[in-house]
Amino acid sequence: MRINKYLADCGVASRRAAEQFVKDGRVKVNGKVELSLSTDISERDSVTLDNKTIKPKNKLYYIMLHKPKGFVTTVKDDLGRKTVMDLIDIKARLFPVGRLDYDTEGLLILTNDGNLTNLLTHPSHKITKTYVARVSGMVKEPEIKMLTNGVKVDGKIAKAISATVLEGDVHTTKVEIIISEGRNHQVKNMFEAIGKPVEFLKRTAIGEIRLGGLTRGTYRDLNEKELAYLKTLD
Ligand code: URA
Repeated sequence: MRINKYLADCGVASRRAAEQFVKDGRVKVNGKVELSLSTDISERDSVTLDNKTIKPKNKLYYIMLHKPKGFVTTVKDDLGRKTVMDLIDIKARLFPVGRLDYDTEGLLILTNDGNLTNLLTHPSHKITKTYVARVSGMVKEPEIKMLTNGVKVDGKIAKAISATVLEGDVHTTKVEIIISEGRNHQVKNMFEAIGKPVEFLKRTAIGEIRLGGLTRGTYRDLNEKELAYLKTLD
C-alpha cells in the first residue's frame, strides 16, 4: 500500500497531511528516511514517524444480524451445527456480542471491537433487551404483574422492566418483554415460572438499537446514529 495511505491507516493524519510528513523527512522505513511518495509499504516493513513506530489500526466492524433459528451464537460449534458466522461474509475476526439460544431469532450485534463487547455484556451496564415471545396459553394481567414484580429463576429473582400483551387468544399469547439482565435462557425461564412456556422467541432491540425490517439471515453495518448511541453508553 502507498506510504501516505499506510500513514493514514495508522491514524496519524489524513492522506494529504501524511504526504507532507513524508516530504518533511519525518518518516522512516526500515530505519531509513523515506522521501518518495510512490513507495509501497508491505506488512513486513517497519515504519516510524518522528522515530516512533506506527502500525495500521484494525478496521472496526459493527454489524447487526437478524439471526434465524437453527444457528448457534458462537464462532465454532463442537457439535458441528451451523453458527452465526456462517451467515457473515467478512474476513475480519468478528465475534457475537452476547448470546441468543439456538432456537431464538432476532437481533444480534457482531463486532471486532472488544471494548464494545465489554460495554454491552457487562452486568453493571444494564442495557435493556426487548423480546417478543409467543407463549402457550392466555396471559392475563396477574401474570404480567408477576413478571414485572419478579419471579424466581434458579433461586434468584428475575424481573421484567415491562411486559405487554400484544395479541392473543386462549391458545397462545404474544408478549413484548423488556429485561436488563442477561442470564442464560432468562426469558424462557421467566415464562416457565408463570406456567406459560415459550413457543417462539425473537429479540427485537438492544437498548435503542432496533432490528426493524432487516430480513432474517441478513446483516448490515450499524448506522451513524446507532454508533453514536453506543458511544453514549461508554
Ligand atoms: N432469553 C432466552 O430465554 N433465550 C434467548 O435466546 C435470549 C433470552
